[in-house]
Amino acid sequence: MLEFAEVSFAYPTATAPALDGVSFSLEPGQLLVVVGANGSGKSTLARLCDGLLTPGGGRVLVDGLDTADVSLVWDIRVKVGMVFQDPDDQIVGTTVDDDCAFGPENLGLPPEEIVARVAEALTSVGMDGLERREPHLLSEGQKQRLAIAGALAMGPRYLVFDEPSAMLDPAGRRSAIAIIERLAHEQGHGVLLVSHDAADVARADRALALSGGCVVFEGAPEDLLADAALLRACGLATGSMGVLGERLRALGLAVPVGALEAESVVDALWP
Ligand SMILES: Nc1ncnc2c1ncn2[C@@H]1O[C@H](COP(=O)(O)OP(=O)(O)OP(=O)(O)O)[C@@H](O)[C@H]1O
Ligand SMILES: [Mg+2]
Repeated sequence: MLEFAEVSFAYPTATAPALDGVSFSLEPGQLLVVVGANGSGKSTLARLCDGLLTPGGGRVLVDGLDTADVSLVWDIRVKVGMVFQDPDDQIVGTTVDDDCAFGPENLGLPPEEIVARVAEALTSVGMDGLERREPHLLSEGQKQRLAIAGALAMGPRYLVFDEPSAMLDPAGRRSAIAIIERLAHEQGHGVLLVSHDAADVARADRALALSGGCVVFEGAPEDLLADAALLRACGLATGSMGVLGERLRALGLAVPVGALEAESVVDALWP
């Protein structure tokens, strides 16, 4: 379990804390979505998960390992994979497979184990056949999938995504979220996804909303999606399908609040 217990954090130069008394837990196999307006503390929370930042107050425990214990930093980094917004910041190799091998090579694994891990990770993100491609020739969506593969090749139990699809087009975004969902629900990773997209909330098992560094909602995604004021406060737009669903519900049709994509609205109307 990845656990935050009353976690607070303040940047040295800031007057107000970026996070204040945040508690939650994430189990393997679970997809937890974290939402909140700009500056609410989402990225700070993400960076506390693997010890990139350590709490000023409270504790972050990864399978019982305290991120504040410097002797555990490496064990924790192996357990928690991180994927950020801009894939260009995460690419280090000159080819796709080199890039993906970078993490496992640093673990000092035997070469055959590295080859196996890279192949498996690239398959997981649908990048078979692109092994020798130069990363700068990939599309933005492919670069982000390579970043996910790089994190997977480390063999993490938990994965933390900080707005991984913010720079992608709609098709790239759909493909990224489908992969992320599979990593939790089929491969059993505990996944924390920071997002500004209400459609991502609809796919999650749990939702956590931050405001001014505090948790203002924790619970079922449907309950968050049903709270229009909270959605607005978190800067989450439900898009044209969300508006359509709202109108259809007003007409008495049984369209769930989580139906935010054309397919799910159609499925609700014609099951
Ligand atoms: N390096 C830093 N030094 C000082 N203050 C910072 C630093 N990084 C973030 N902050 C401040 O901490 C607060 C939380 O920032 P954070 O980046 O965690 O928010 P966020 O929810 O990820 O925002 P966004 O949606 O814009 O990505 C904000 O007030 C921000 O200005
Ligand atoms: Mg952020």
